[in-house]
Formats: sequence, C-alpha cells, structure tokens
Amino acid sequence: MKNILVTGGAGFIGSNFVHHMLAKYPEYNIVVYDKLTYAGNLDNLLPVKDDPRYAFVQGDICDAAQVKNAVEQHDVDTIVNFAAETHVDRSIMDPDAFIQTDVYGTYVLLEVAKELGVARYHQISTDEVYGHIPEGHSSVETDPLEPRSPYAASKAAGDMMVDAYFITYGLPVTISRGSNNIGPYQYPEKVVPLFATNAMEGLPLPIYGDGMQKRDYQYVIDHCEGIDAVLHHGQLGEAYNVGTGNEIDNLTMVQTLLDELGASADLIRHVEDRAGHDRRYSLNVDKLKSLGWVSRHTNEEAIRKTVRWYADNEWWWSKIKSGEFKEYYQKQYGERLALAN
Ligand code: NAD
Ligand code: TYD
Repeated sequence: MKNILVTGGAGFIGSNFVHHMLAKYPEYNIVVYDKLTYAGNLDNLLPVKDDPRYAFVQGDICDAAQVKNAVEQHDVDTIVNFAAETHVDRSIMDPDAFIQTDVYGTYVLLEVAKELGVARYHQISTDEVYGHIPEGHSSVETDPLEPRSPYAASKAAGDMMVDAYFITYGLPVTISRGSNNIGPYQYPEKVVPLFATNAMEGLPLPIYGDGMQKRDYQYVIDHCEGIDAVLHHGQLGEAYNVGTGNEIDNLTMVQTLLDELGASADLIRHVEDRAGHDRRYSLNVDKLKSLGWVSRHTNEEAIRKTVRWYADNEWWWSKIKSGEFKEYYQKQYGERLALAN
C-alpha cells in the first residue's frame, strides 16, 4: 500500500481517516476523491492542504471515466470508499441519490478496481445493514443483512456487490461495518452535533418518539484505527464490525451532552418518530479485536469529547447552519416541533 484513493474524503469520517493515515504513515500518499455534495467540506481538510503527500480531486464516484483517470494519474493501489449519501432522514424524504451513489457508485468503483488491477478495495459500511437488533443479541459479521431504511438498504446492496466481486472475479476486497460515529467535522444533521449546536444556540432538541432507541456512539478516531487494522491485517473477502461493543439509549446520550455543556433539559422536545425507526443496533466486535485493535473511548467519553470539540469550533459549524441546512431543518423539523408538547 502506497497510494490510497479516499473517496468521500471531504466528509466527516473520510477526513478524519485522512488525518489519521497521513499522521501515522509518512510513506503513504493520499488522494481525496469527492463530489463535494452538501456534506463535503474542504474545511475538514485544511490541516493537510499543504502536505505534499495529499491531493484533492473533485469528482463523482458514479462517473467511471473520472474515477479511472484519478486512479491512473495518481498510480493508486488502494481504494477506500467512504463516499455515500449517509443520512437516514434524508433517505426517507428522497432515496434517489442514495441508490445512485451508495449502490451504482460502489459498482463503478469495483469495476474500475477490477479493470485497472487495483491491489485492494475497502468498503466502508454500517451496522444499519443488520437492521433492528432485539435485546440479548449483538450482530456478528455472518448475520443476515436485513436493512429497513432506504439508506440501510442502499448500503447493504453495496456490501453485497463487494462480496460478489470477491467471489466472482477474485477482487481483493474487505468491508468494515461501523456503528454511529461522532467527533470533529460531522455535519450537524446527525443527532449529536445537531443537539450540541442547537443547545449552544438555545434551540430545542427534537427527540424522535420516546428516545429509548439504542445506538453505539463511537469516537471517530477509534473507527479510523479499526479501518487501518482491517487494511493492514484483515483477511480478503471478510467483513469486520467496528464499534465500542456497547450501546446507550438516546435519552442517556442527550443527558450526557447537556451535562457536558452545562445546558438545561428544558430544551428537550419529544417529536413525531422517524418512520421505520430501528429501535436498537448492537455490534459484536470480537473479530476486529482479534486483529489487535481496541476501541479507546466509551460511549460517554466519545460524547463528551465531541461536544467539547463543537464548543471550541463554532467557526466550523456556524457557516454550515445557514443556507441548505436551514431549508432541510425546516422541512424535517418545522411541523414536528410545532406539534411537539
Ligand atoms: P458524510 O455524509 O459526512 O460524507 C460523505 C462524503 O461523500 C461527502 O464528502 C460527500 O461530498 C461525498 N460524496 C457523496 N456522494 C458522492 C459521490 N457520488 N461521489 C463522490 N463523493 C461523494 O458521511 P460520513 O458520516 O463521513 O460517512 C462516511 C461513510 O461511512 C459512508 O459510507 C457511511 O455510510 C459510513 N458510515 C457512517 C457512519 C456514521 O455514523 N456517520 C457510521 C457507519 C458507517
Ligand atoms: P442519527 O444521528 O440520524 O444516526 P442513525 O439514524 O444513522 O443511527 O440518529 C441517531 C439516533 O438519534 C437515532 O435513534 C435517531 C435519533 N434522532 C433523534 O431522536 N432526533 C434527531 O433529530 C435525529 C437527527 C436523530
């Protein structure tokens, strides 16, 4: 591994992965390939913009000629695919872009990897592909994929296509399935940055339904270290879960967040639930641990560290919470908040 194409590297997890890899491996070069959708943000890559080992290409993963060009020009031997439409609520409003990018875009990358003989293709996937997980079980990698939202279904389709390229063409692939990530540079549509920034602005925190849904909130750098472990020590054709191995309910998440900010619980509003809302995700991460990786933050530490980053980096999120974001916020929460008690 020497020249890595990081698709979606201007987004939240991708940019953290770029920082992690450039800091840890002086011999690697990174090319970020990103369409710069509403979620892509070059501010996330400001700390590396003058690093000679980093290059940026603006492009769509659905455009085979453009992807091929980037791979050839930069002599890419490894593709790590973070590029995706990622927000469940947006996938409920309008699934089209999810099918395009998360399904068709994955296929395009696999085809280019096959045609140009790329040495490794790694797919970034999610715990949501396993669907709702009843109490008493934690998903293992061999569990059936039972996605329930358009987002989760598009990611599951991507995973299946990756497996198909391994089985049919022998493409050297791996997959990682992460739980909910939180940390620096997350677009404030996802719950933790939305609630942290709303609380700082004195705005309501819209909890869907009873707030007893469970998620494994992991610190993004732990996830990046997990991907790094899979890239260096993972077995081809295998998937690896990445998370803390523990989950908490959303009311506990919000109490921790408010406590870290010293803000009042009066901001909490229970609003109409998300359609098809998965009650619980839970990952068994023993397979990744067997590669020597450990998760270094608990759910609570991850929440507190993330909230502190948002408190210290208003410059980053204040410009995002205008324009496109305001339109989305009104559409998603306007009526819900008006009807909330
Ligand atoms: P994000 O929404 O912050 O960023 C996505 C990035 O992909 C953006 O920079 C965007 O511009 C780019 N992109 C979108 N469509 C593209 C296209 N057609 N061509 C090229 N670039 C495109 O996402 P994230 O939260 O960083 O998630 C990254 C990956 O990790 C995704 O594959 C997601 O499914 C997966 N994942 C996310 C989480 C989470 O909690 N955020 C958890 C597990 C897995
Ligand atoms: P989210 O950050 O959208 O991640 P995902 O749906 O991919 O897990 O949501 C995390 C949890 O928070 C999920 O149970 C839905 C809930 N949630 C709210 O209660 N209110 C909100 O405004 C949002 C965005 C999410």
